[in-house]
Amino acid sequence: MAAPFILINLKSYAEGFGYNAQKIAQVAEKIAHENDVRIGIAPGYMDIHPFHVHYSLPVFAQHVDGVTPGAHTGHIVADALKAAGATGTLINHSERRLTLADIEAAHRSARNAGLETVICTNNVATSGAATFFEPDYIAIEPPELIGSGISVSKADPGIIEKSVEAVHSVNAGVKVLTGAGISTGECVRTALDLGTDGVLLASGVVKAADPEAVLRDLISKI
Ligand code: G3P
Repeated sequence: MAAPFILINLKSYAEGFGYNAQKIAQVAEKIAHENDVRIGIAPGYMDIHPFHVHYSLPVFAQHVDGVTPGAHTGHIVADALKAAGATGTLINHSERRLTLADIEAAHRSARNAGLETVICTNNVATSGAATFFEPDYIAIEPPELIGSGISVSKADPGIIEKSVEAVHSVNAGVKVLTGAGISTGECVRTALDLGTDGVLLASGVVKAADPEAVLRDLISKI
């Protein structure tokens, strides 16, 4: 199996942009280099280019629009993300939810631009359905647990197991992440034992007093 993927979404937290974001990226890069783990970061749009310049971590956008370059205003264009140095993108995060048609268009534009894709889903049925778009990852996150500090691995292991099953029954090549309330190595271990390829998390790292300590703990049971 490929090295587990820990994808840190910095969201729009004050602790997650500018200098604070750089500090998280620095420790993430150090830890990724020292261990057999893949760590990616999804910063705000303004931090994508600096991250690309200063770090070798995979850099994900938090959203992309399904538009091609042209007369659009205020849109996030996949080719522009790529040009700024993004290597991938989240699509349909629970805090930036899209219609099915929009997910398809966003995914297609990300693919055409050569970006790695993580489609976020909120339940088992959506996980299975989104797999037909053939993303690199499906990330299952029960919305009610997001930012709650209550880990999906403990509170709802069934949704992880069933999502892995739903995704792999459509396409065994699509990898699965899980997220919501993940903050310890034990949560990550459970997620991997349930068949996922890693985790998508935010507050556990971004809002931690010591993000490095949390990151080290997160990978301690891999
Ligand atoms: O994108 C990650 C996310 O929605 C989970 O957030 O704060 O529960 O780790 P959090």
